[in-house]
Amino acid sequence: MNPEFKESVKSAENSNEEFFTVNFGANKIKIFFEEDSCNWVWNYKYIYQKDALELKSQLDSSLKTNKIALINYFYTFIIPDISNLNSHIAPNTKSILDIGAGIGLFDLFLTQVFEHQVSFDLIEVDNLDEIEHVTNNPEETKNLDNNIQIKPVDALKKLMLINKASNINIIESKSIDQYMDRKYDLILSFRSWGYLYDLNLYEKFVRNTLNPNGLVITDLSIFDDSIDKFSKLFKEVTLINEAGNNKRFIGKNLK
Ligand SMILES: C[S@@+](CC[C@H](N)C(=O)[O-])C[C@H]1O[C@@H](n2cnc3c(N)ncnc32)[C@H](O)[C@@H]1O
Repeated sequence: MNPEFKESVKSAENSNEEFFTVNFGANKIKIFFEEDSCNWVWNYKYIYQKDALELKSQLDSSLKTNKIALINYFYTFIIPDISNLNSHIAPNTKSILDIGAGIGLFDLFLTQVFEHQVSFDLIEVDNLDEIEHVTNNPEETKNLDNNIQIKPVDALKKLMLINKASNINIIESKSIDQYMDRKYDLILSFRSWGYLYDLNLYEKFVRNTLNPNGLVITDLSIFDDSIDKFSKLFKEVTLINEAGNNKRFIGKNLK
């Protein structure tokens, strides 16, 4: 078991389940738990429920299982994303857009790592009734049980409030037209735009809001024409990472 994961679980137990900490270089990141966001991980990343139960039992931890699941999600997805992107994020980045941010842990992490003020806009859907996990392959799409509700925008807002992340603004996907005059140095989308749904959905928004020297970093689906479409959007396209069905690209200079 990853000793850093173990340490984060310990930190959560010691905080009376209020928050967990993560050591990252010289930084100690602190993330407060919020029940709806823990439940987002539990219900959305349901394929990891078994892992969370096993980890809890191996550690003989008193921590609630949905909190263990959140810490495990953090180490499974967010830490590798950070390590993968570290060298690509310019130190003078001032404005970031995250499309399909989930519960925004990546952004919450970045706010604590940056030494200067950075503003974040996070786009999410109000309500989710089906989950496309791992791939955008329709055969793997799961309808949610009737008694489970996933409301990403609500969970995001609550998590940002409890973490006092006043520089992180949440945008509901249906209201993006009101934000067309924003400008971003960096547009991110992990396992969402061009991966779970078509690039067309935010193409206009990205064209309007990306600064001329800005970067787009996104995961693209290998099951449709997303990679082709992305290559038609930008003059410079670079593959920076691939793992299974997940191909991560950088786009620079809109055509
Ligand atoms: C696989 S999750 C990725 C979450 C987070 N970016 C991560 O990497 O951990 C995909 C996210 O896309 C969001 N999503 C689905 N359809 C969307 C849409 N039309 N606009 C914005 N976000 C969407 C889902 O609610 C979900 O949070």
